[in-house]
Amino acid sequence: MTGGGSARLSWAARLYIGIVVAAAAAVIIRGPFGGIAWWREVAVLGLLVVVFESTATLLRPRELAWSPNSSATLAAAVLVGPVGAALVGACTVFGLRRGPSPAQRAFNTGMMALSAYLAGQAFVATGGHVGVPDATSFPSVIGPFAVAAVVHVVTNHALLAGILWLTGRPDSAGRRAPLGVSFKLVASDLGYGAFGLLIAALWSVVGLFAPVLVLIPLFVARWAVAQIAEQQRAYEATVGALCQAVETKDLYTRGHSDRVSRGSVMIAREIGLRGARVEAIRYAGMLHDVGKLGVPTNVLQKTGKLTEEEYAAIQLHPMRGLDILREIGFLDEALAGIKHHHERIDGRGYPMGLVGDQIPEFARMLAVADAFDAMTSARSYRGARPVDEAIEELKRWSGTQFDPAFVDAFVAAVRREGWQRRETGVLAADDLAVIASHDHDDPGEPLHVIDSL
Ligand SMILES: [Fe+2]
Repeated sequence: MTGGGSARLSWAARLYIGIVVAAAAAVIIRGPFGGIAWWREVAVLGLLVVVFESTATLLRPRELAWSPNSSATLAAAVLVGPVGAALVGACTVFGLRRGPSPAQRAFNTGMMALSAYLAGQAFVATGGHVGVPDATSFPSVIGPFAVAAVVHVVTNHALLAGILWLTGRPDSAGRRAPLGVSFKLVASDLGYGAFGLLIAALWSVVGLFAPVLVLIPLFVARWAVAQIAEQQRAYEATVGALCQAVETKDLYTRGHSDRVSRGSVMIAREIGLRGARVEAIRYAGMLHDVGKLGVPTNVLQKTGKLTEEEYAAIQLHPMRGLDILREIGFLDEALAGIKHHHERIDGRGYPMGLVGDQIPEFARMLAVADAFDAMTSARSYRGARPVDEAIEELKRWSGTQFDPAFVDAFVAAVRREGWQRRETGVLAADDLAVIASHDHDDPGEPLHVIDSL
């Protein structure tokens, strides 16, 4: 773990950085260097530190960056002892990452050198033998190595917490921001630190190539995880953009998509769905009314009674949604939910008039959450119903409009977790003209199905 850059430093932060750097310099200068017989190990592991530092993952831009550099410094602690490990840690200074300011870079270098040095001392103090381990070194080397790894991580995180505290922006009450170094990061550092022992053990077999053998799979795994995270961000952005588009066009969907999404997820979890299917129903909830983009705005926002043609246009929105989203591969099962979210168990819904189990499971879940949110949100033509009253209404239509199993699941989840309704009083003045219109897609309203569809 290393820090990012901070533009202005207080005198306390400067003093702290100065002490850390001076302490690191002191332990390195004092030696001993053992006739620098281990310069090749230091050079190879130092190069690793440079690569790690240059490719560090930014956790909080300008504040925290993570890289598996503890695996290199801990390998050095075993192979070349405390001073050699400190030198390897000091190679942080050559990292090509742009973020850190010169002062922060100096601090990172001092911090990594000190962490590595203390880890090396801990390794020796607990009976670890410095040098290339062989078959006879195991399992006795594991205990001292574990102690060294803990000392490394604790020193690293404690020093980092210090600088974060000193450079953090005070809040309105003048207090420093919380440190925020999480347990997950400590665990992750300890886990990657274990690769240090693997590098050291392989050194006796493949010498300088040991880090390459250990770290290629490590890099591939990190790359793959980063790709997945990137893909996930792209999905979220796509869904967010589509939701924003619908909410801009139809005032009634403001926040509605999000709440239907949460309600559907509550049902899904209640009936024991997990993982990818919960994600899919979450997306389905977010996007269930996206087909309204294909309905003329004047129809969506019309005040009063609609003509048959206008109702027909509204009732096309599930199919329009499918048309819009069809090519988005990751939506998969969500598409069926979106297409059929206005079907009814008794077959009187649209667009297909499916009955009972013919209606996809996701659509039956969406229908319950959709109607519940519509009932508990205020409309110009009626107020928001209380949660208990909306639950009674759901139960009344259970078995005709809604799937009873999902009504029961939803009611159980709401009773346990509560329901966050639409916030009132958040509408701007220019919204009022729009809200005077009628929500013609309100599933809590009396049924109006066009036979010709
Ligand atoms: Fe809808």
